[in-house]
Amino acid sequence: MSSNGFEKDTENIKNVENIDNNENAENSEATAKSGESCGESCGESCGESCGSSCSGCSSYKNGGCNEGKKNPFLAELNDKSSIKNIIAVMSGKGGVGKSFITASLALKYAKMGYKVGILDADVTGPSIPKMFGIHKLAGADGKLIYPEVSKEGIKIISVNIIIEDETEPVVWRGPIISGVIKQFYGDVCWGDLDYLFVDMPPGTGDVPLTVFQSIPVAGTVMVTTPQELVELIVTKAVNMTEKMNVRILGMVENYSYITCPDCGKKIEVFGKSSGEKVADKLGIKLLGKLPIMPEIAESVDEERFEEGDISYIDEIYENLKEAENQ
Ligand SMILES: Nc1ncnc2c1ncn2[C@@H]1O[C@H](COP(=O)(O)OP(=O)(O)O)[C@@H](O)[C@H]1O
Ligand SMILES: [Mg+2]
Ligand SMILES: [Zn+2]
Repeated sequence: MSSNGFEKDTENIKNVENIDNNENAENSEATAKSGESCGESCGESCGESCGSSCSGCSSYKNGGCNEGKKNPFLAELNDKSSIKNIIAVMSGKGGVGKSFITASLALKYAKMGYKVGILDADVTGPSIPKMFGIHKLAGADGKLIYPEVSKEGIKIISVNIIIEDETEPVVWRGPIISGVIKQFYGDVCWGDLDYLFVDMPPGTGDVPLTVFQSIPVAGTVMVTTPQELVELIVTKAVNMTEKMNVRILGMVENYSYITCPDCGKKIEVFGKSSGEKVADKLGIKLLGKLPIMPEIAESVDEERFEEGDISYIDEIYENLKEAENQ
């Protein structure tokens, strides 16, 4: 490992933080003024089409409305960037396919013509850059960090492209990780994005909490598998999301079945799918079920993911778009 590189990079991150903190003082004054018309509950009174979810409204993001002011942890986005929608992909635990579904959705949205970014918030287990075959280091100019861009134009930021040796485990403590996540949102030159997908770390611990507190997530997609103690785990994640005042857009059941290569029959390897039942009980929309797709796992391993067929995500995409508009 190049310990120099590590120190240099964390040093860079610190520098960026210092510069931006100074600037924020000026910015927040200006945005507070412009948001004064925003009412108590944000609702319609701020003139933004923020609907029921305050966190999606730009007035909220800038700390302009009263709802926004209640959250002192919200990171401020740099003035080179504007992001219309932030969707977080989360689950109760690891290995369920969050990163895979994040990447698939991002790619689908990009193919549909949207400007898309991925914020890899799984700081200790980042897997997004490798999926897209990205190994270059992100650039930085002492003020902003520049994301790497995939073949299809997806802007990507991850700890893996900040640290020189991507095989080195991240051993940072909580407060540093929180700082990194805030900077991955606020200090990255995202430009104009229609969608930023946040690949969440597993579970409902400190880091997911930081994401919800510091990034104005408009909605979440829950990922589950049939072999999880689905109800308990999903319920926890749902409770967290609701507590943080974030909308749940829907649920995806991954590893739901395999398709027999000979006769096309669906085999539920992990037992009967409980996706519908759990979704129903929790009042969440089931966006779709994904089978185990060995050929896809292979393309991910070989970093050919972006070139492959992603029609498996189409139905989930349609349902998600519908949920966004509700
Ligand atoms: N439906 C699927 N079919 C085949 N492989 C999958 C599927 N979903 C995920 N994988 C693979 O399983 C592994 C774990 O998925 P990942 O998205 O990294 O999980 P998480 O982010 O929840 O920890 C990855 O190698 C991924 O490519
Ligand atoms: Mg992951
Ligand atoms: Zn068969």
